[in-house]
Order: sequence, then structure tokens, then C-alpha cells
Amino acid sequence: MRIRSNTYEKVCHQIAVDISNKVKNGNHLVLGLATGSTPIGIYKELVKMKPDFSKTTTFNLDEYVGLKETHDQSYRYFMNKHLFQYFDFEQSYFPNEQNHHEYDIMISNYGGIDVQILGIGTNGHIAFNEPNSDRHSSTRVVDLTQNTIEDNSRFFEDIKDVPTQAYTMGLSSIMEAEEIHLVAVGKHKKDILERSMNGEITPEIPASYLQQHKKLKVYYSDR
Ligand code: GLP
Repeated sequence: MRIRSNTYEKVCHQIAVDISNKVKNGNHLVLGLATGSTPIGIYKELVKMKPDFSKTTTFNLDEYVGLKETHDQSYRYFMNKHLFQYFDFEQSYFPNEQNHHEYDIMISNYGGIDVQILGIGTNGHIAFNEPNSDRHSSTRVVDLTQNTIEDNSRFFEDIKDVPTQAYTMGLSSIMEAEEIHLVAVGKHKKDILERSMNGEITPEIPASYLQQHKKLKVYYSDR
């Protein structure tokens, strides 16, 4: 699998250009969104480019269980801060307690995701599909691994404040996305990215399933 290496700025710019091109001429778009430190630069570029998102619906990949939307570490809060406050999207959805059983049906009612932005966890998770997730898994509540809790504790005052569960889009809807941009930033992601893209396809590394995706672009930046 080809990995495109470039500076973080160039990677983010390229992905933002690709997304902006999709909504030229007022086209409809279903955009799959990710949180974490990785996509922040993409959102910054989009804010600068000001594409017309008036006919764009967004589906976020995941959300913590038990955090209110107003909590500064909730993914809704993150998206409001980095993207939603700047645009008027048609609709924006997150998996939550009420809708997680229907989330995949909601996505398919929109015709599936057109473009999905994806980061990768240091254990090879995508969204919150932790190691040993089923290739055909649907949107559900998952227990976070100790590795993920530790990785994400950098955003919380105390590791005890990190939620231990999350709602995550399943691998099924992610794999059905028309196009995926997978981004890994930092030397600590280099090895897992390489194993995911050029190693064995295995449930132990959920990102390795992406090798089977028909339209995947992979980006790496050492920062
Ligand atoms: C989080 C998110 C993922 C994200 C990953 C990497 O736990 N659930 O969607 O891709 O971890 O985060 P970061 O971009 O901050 O390294």
C-alpha cells in the first residue's frame, strides 16, 4: 500500500482541497468526521477555504459514553470548536445512547459516507474499533483498552477522568465509505501505520482491514 509522506501542513491542505472539490457546484456530500489531534489541521484548512457545506451532512465516528455535549473533552465539543461553529451543515450526527442501534441505517439512508477522514490509534484502532473488532461490526458501545485510555489521558486532568467506554461507528460502515483518507502523524505512529498497511490483515490490527478498501489514500507526516 502506498503511503504518501509529506509535511503535516501539506497533507492537511491536500485533504481539504479534495473535500472542497466535492462540494463545488453545490453538490450533496456525506462526510465522515474524526476527532483527535490528527484532523485539526484539516479542519483549519477547511475553515480557510470556506467550501459550501450547505448540502453536506456529517457523521462523526465516535463519542465517549458518559460525557455531556458541553464537556470540553466530548467529541461534540471538539467538533463545535474546530469546525461546526464556522459552517452551516445540513445535519451533523454523532453516535449516542439514543441512536447507536440505528446509526448504520441512518448512514445508509443517506446513501453511505462519501468521504471519510480517519486517524489511527497507536494500537491500530480506527474510530474506537479496538483490536479484535469484527470486520463486519456495527455501531455499538465498546470498552476502551488500557492503551487507548492512557493515550487519551493527555487530554484530561487525571487518567481517572478518561471515560472507559465509547460509542463507535463499526468497521462495516467505515469500510463501506466511498473514499477514505487515513492520516497518521508523528514518529510514534510510523510502525503501526506500516504494519497496518503492509502487514498481515488481522483483527488484532483493525486498521489492517483498510488494505481491502477500494479507494483509500494513506498519509504520513513525522510532524
Ligand atoms: C482516538 C479516536 C480516534 C483517533 C485516534 C488517534 O481515540 N477515537 O478516532 O483516530 O484516537 O488520535 P490522535 O489523532 O489524537 O492521535
